[in-house]
Amino acid sequence: MKARDPIVEIVSTGRYLPDRVLTNADLEKIVATTDEWIMERTGIRERRIAGPEMGAAEMGARAARIAMERANVLPGEVDVIVVSTATPDRLLPSTACDMQALLGATNAAAYDISAACSGFIYALSVAEGHIASGNAEIALVVSTEKMSGIVDWTDRATCVLFGDGAGAAVVRRAGTGRGAVLSSFMRSDGTLAELLWRPAGGVKVPMDIAVLDEKSHLVKMAGREVFKSAVRSMAEAADQALMRAGLTGADIDLLVPHQANMRIIDATARYAGVPMDRVFVNVDRYGNMSSATVPIALDEAAEQGRLKQGDHVMLVAFGAGFTWASAVLRW
Ligand code: UT7
Repeated sequence: MKARDPIVEIVSTGRYLPDRVLTNADLEKIVATTDEWIMERTGIRERRIAGPEMGAAEMGARAARIAMERANVLPGEVDVIVVSTATPDRLLPSTACDMQALLGATNAAAYDISAACSGFIYALSVAEGHIASGNAEIALVVSTEKMSGIVDWTDRATCVLFGDGAGAAVVRRAGTGRGAVLSSFMRSDGTLAELLWRPAGGVKVPMDIAVLDEKSHLVKMAGREVFKSAVRSMAEAADQALMRAGLTGADIDLLVPHQANMRIIDATARYAGVPMDRVFVNVDRYGNMSSATVPIALDEAAEQGRLKQGDHVMLVAFGAGFTWASAVLRW
């Protein structure tokens, strides 16, 4: 596939993180774990947890308002809101519609996509399609995840890994040359769905007393198998995004990988040939916020001055499905 002229650009980003910090020491009081184990196996020191009153739509709206303000975009100017979430506030209607109402985006279409941790890059590509077709000029891409609501707080193998947060981006037709999306890549493998899933609570195995007793509506993960697939798939995703942009790892000024585990981030960077001083890491502070990790990391990188005009930025993610995806941007 050849490098193509960019169709869209990311004008601005925003993020929302709940105030409450849950440390590894706090988790030691909840399950049989230690700060040492969590740090050594994952690199996570603490994560944010949203209160009971805070839902996915509200978190996403807070991140989106910041991105819109930075882009000087009014709610009525947004043509489409694409929300990625694995933790919708309810099953019907979409979290995106709740967000549309919260924002007062009266001229916008709104819907959710479900691509787990790869969701932001998937949603960015969906927004690109709307703009390419001429159906939209301004898109709001929001990833919002209240992972604390779907983890089993008695399962030490999963509950230590996740956190809550939301990230948003205003996306519009390429024009200024800044924030341009140069390439993207997406893949999936549903044959491996059961390695990371919520087995019940949908229409196939509806919620009932047995489901609640067995906690089969909560996240289950075969960690080691997921780890291996994540390393392999993120390597492929990095290769593909670079090839499609006509670049190599040496051209990347900042790698913004999905933040699931420090060891997966290290392996991805090493494979792509990007030294660690050019890799953005915040997994230590927030844990795995599923699809919200990439836009939150991008927003923090921009705020910390780690993105200069003209820099090449690579986004890479992997998650339940399995899904994996990547994109190269020119900041
Ligand atoms: O968002 C995208 C999808 N998710 C991921 O990418 C996550 C991918 N997987 C991982 O990051 C890692 O597999 C984990 C961090 C989840 C686990 O690390 P691991 O090195 O693969 O450990 P393991 O699952 O093989 O478990 C090793 C041992 C086990 O004990 P035994 O059987 O060796 O006696 C576990 O029972 O560690 C034990 N263990 C724990 N010990 C203390 C599992 N969780 C914990 C814990 N604290 N929280």
